[in-house]
Amino acid sequence: MDVTTFDGDFTYSVTSSTLYAKGEIVADLVRTGLSLERELLDRFDESIARRAYQNRSEAVRDLIREHLVSEEGDKNKVIAATLTMVYDHHRPNLSDRLTEIQHQAHTQVLAATHVHLDHHNCLEVVIMKGRSAELRKIADRILSLRGVKHGKFVITTTGKDLK
Ligand code: NI
Repeated sequence: MDVTTFDGDFTYSVTSSTLYAKGEIVADLVRTGLSLERELLDRFDESIARRAYQNRSEAVRDLIREHLVSEEGDKNKVIAATLTMVYDHHRPNLSDRLTEIQHQAHTQVLAATHVHLDHHNCLEVVIMKGRSAELRKIADRILSLRGVKHGKFVITTTGKDLK
């Protein structure tokens, strides 16, 4: 099926094809083209080449997935997430407080990995699964502790609703 649509400045065409294996749909592919400024496309191509993408399609698919995952985070869906942090090993009570927060959130905290970076600094990665608002709250509680020097909360999908 081929469809060409004109929508103001935006023009795109769509071709669909469905791949079957043993009678089951393995990939329902739609081929689409879009018009955009040459400079924008050139910069995109340079960027994806630096990031070792083999082709534009996979790069665009990743952008779409990124958008959908970020939306899952906004809609308080069940997500997976990691909190990576570096903290001061010598800060009094800090490791106890970190453990306490993770115990209180034991239904969401799946695992934690601790590395002693040097004599003064620890790196810890906490892996979580749960409603995005709850996970963000746990991350905020940890990141706001004194002695946590830097941290990053990264959300991802559980993979269930994403091809
Ligand atoms: Ni340590």
